[in-house]
Amino acid sequence: MHRVIYVSRAAENMNFASLSQIATTAQRYNERDNLSGVLLWVEGMFLQLIEGPKENLHNTLVRIQNDSRHSGLLRLSYRPTYEVICTDWTMGCYSAKASALPFGLAHAESLSTRIQRIHATPDKQLERFFRQFYCGDFKHAEPIAA
Ligand SMILES: Cc1cc2nc3c(=O)[nH]c(=O)nc-3n(C[C@H](O)[C@H](O)[C@H](O)COP(=O)(O)O)c2cc1C
Repeated sequence: MHRVIYVSRAAENMNFASLSQIATTAQRYNERDNLSGVLLWVEGMFLQLIEGPKENLHNTLVRIQNDSRHSGLLRLSYRPTYEVICTDWTMGCYSAKASALPFGLAHAESLSTRIQRIHATPDKQLERFFRQFYCGDFKHAEPIAA
């Protein structure tokens, strides 16, 4: 099993309807490919965790990377793992405010600064966040219906 966490810039015209389309596709493909994870839309940025068999994960990442609905995909963590965090989510999709995330993202910061801060966050801390998120301990996210 492998796990990837990445951050990217959402396309300018991103909205709940386009997100819902992304969620539908992601969930359908991930079910087929045995992948699971969380996709967060955070004020113009995507933060996503995906886990599963290495080859499927790789192929999916290539498709995601070429998707024009976002850009500047930056891998924060990509490594083998024995234990999957989001066992039952083919792709949980949520939106959240940047300032609510535990990465010290200030209110009036630019997108680039926020991305840099997330980039500087240790893997362990990112994983801890996703674990808490999956357990329902993070209360500041709104689900995006597929
Ligand atoms: C932010 C974002 C996250 C995505 N997450 C996934 C995902 O987890 N799994 C997936 O198969 N496709 C995901 N997609 C969609 C893929 O980019 C792609 O459109 C989809 O896999 C269909 O590929 P195809 O059109 O080449 O068949 C995501 C797209 C975006 C923009």
